[in-house]
Amino acid sequence: MEIFRISGGKTLCGTARVHGAKNSVLPIMAASLLARGTTVIENCPRLSDVGAAIKILTHLGCKIERDGERVAINSSSVTRCDIPHELMREMRSSVIFLGAVLGRCGEAVISTPGGCELGPRPVDLHISALRALGAEITVDGGNISCRAPKMRGGRITLEFPSVGATENTMLCAACCQGETVISNAAREPEIWDLQRYLTRLGYSVSGAGTPCVTVEGASISASTDMRVIPDRIVAATYLAAAACTGGDVEITDVIPRHLAAATDALAGMGCRISEGRGSVRINAAEKKRAIRPVYTSPYPGFPTDVQPQLMAACLSAEGTTVFVENIFENRYRHAEEMKRLGADIKTHGRVAMVTGVRRLRGAPVTSTDLRGGAALVLAALTAEGVSEVSGVRHIDRGYDDFEGVLRSLGADVGRAETPGN
Ligand code: EPZ
Repeated sequence: MEIFRISGGKTLCGTARVHGAKNSVLPIMAASLLARGTTVIENCPRLSDVGAAIKILTHLGCKIERDGERVAINSSSVTRCDIPHELMREMRSSVIFLGAVLGRCGEAVISTPGGCELGPRPVDLHISALRALGAEITVDGGNISCRAPKMRGGRITLEFPSVGATENTMLCAACCQGETVISNAAREPEIWDLQRYLTRLGYSVSGAGTPCVTVEGASISASTDMRVIPDRIVAATYLAAAACTGGDVEITDVIPRHLAAATDALAGMGCRISEGRGSVRINAAEKKRAIRPVYTSPYPGFPTDVQPQLMAACLSAEGTTVFVENIFENRYRHAEEMKRLGADIKTHGRVAMVTGVRRLRGAPVTSTDLRGGAALVLAALTAEGVSEVSGVRHIDRGYDDFEGVLRSLGADVGRAETPGN
C-alpha cells in the first residue's frame, strides 16, 4: 500500500504552477463524444480519474493518444453505448458520460454509479432532466437503461443546481432538435469551460456561469484543441498548505476570481493575499485566527471541495471556527483522522466546530476521500514529528504530483510502499 511519509513543521515557501482542472477535463472528455472528430486537450492533468475516463472512451470505440499533459481523443467512430460496472465504479463522476452517450448514440446503458465516501450520490436530477428531453429511462437495480428514439429540446428546471446534472443536460440537449433552456443551472467555472468547448466545436450554447443555460441542438462533426481552466480546488489546496505552515507561497497559472471564496476565508484568518494576472500569493507569517462560520454552498459560495483543507488550516488557529457542510451528507470523515494528530474538532451532522490547539503531533492517519486526504497531508505538514498518510490512491484521483509540488515548496514529504493493501 502506498503512503505519504511526512515530517512536519517545515514552512512552505516558493512558487507552484497549478495544473488543469479535473472537474473541467472530465465533462469535456465526455463531451468529446459529440465532436465526431479529434479533440486535443493541451493541459490535461495526470490523474487516475483521467485514466478512468480514457478507459471509458476507449471502451466506447474512441481512439486516444496521451503524451504527458496532452491528450488527443478521436471520437469519429463510437461502436458501443454501454459502460459496464467495472468501468463505472473506478470513478464516481462517470455518470457524466450518460448525457453524451445518449445524445450521440440514441441509447445508453450505464451501471448505477452508487454512493461514495461522501455519502449517497443520487442521480435523480440527471434522470428527470433527461426524461424531460424525451428519454425513456428505466432504473433496475444495478443499471440505468436509456432509449431516446427522438429527443426534443425543452424547458428544464433543476431542483438543485447540480454540477453533474447541468453538464449531462447540456450534453444531451446539444443533440436534441430545437432549443433547451436549463433553469437553476450550476454556475461553477467548469460549466463555463464546457460551454467554451462546445462552442469551439460549433454548438450554440450560452448563459454558462448564470443560473440559465441555453443550448441549441445540432449535428456536428468537428475537431478542435482546448486548454482547460486551471484547477481552482488544487490552487486553494496549495494556498491552504501555506496557511497551515505559516509560509509564503505564490501559485501561478490560476484565475484568481475562481477561488475568491477560499482566498477571502484565508484572508479572514489573517493571511496576506495578493493577486496578480494569473497568480495569487499568500503570506501566512502572522498568527492565524478563527473566522466567521463557513457555510459550503454552490459556486460562487464557499466550495465544499475546499472545506477539509480550510479545516486543516483552522486546526492551529486561535479560537473556534464553525463549519456547516450543506452539499454532502458525510464530508467530515477527515475530522476523526485529524483528531489523531491532536486536533480539537466536534462534529454533529452537518456542523463541525474546530478549536485551534497550540501543537499537533505526527501520527498515522488514513485518507477516505480525495479532498479529505489532501487535508490530512496539510494537517501532517503542520504537526511536529512524522506522520504517515495512507489511502494515497484517493489523493492521486485529483492531484498531479502532489508530493512533488509540496517538496518543491520545502515540505519534507515522500511516497513510500508499506505492506498491506
Ligand atoms: C461535482 O460533483 C464535482 N465533481 C464534485 O467534486 C463537487 O464536490 C460537486 O460537484 C459540488 O460542487 C465533478 O465535477 C467531477 P452535484 P457532482 O451534482 O456533480 C445532490 C471533487 O472532490 N444531488 O453538484 O456529483 C448530491 O447528492 C468532487 O473533485 C442529488 O441529490 O455534484 C450532492 O448532495 C467531489 N441528485 C449535491 O446534489 C442528483 O441527481 C451536489 O451534487 C445529483 C446531485
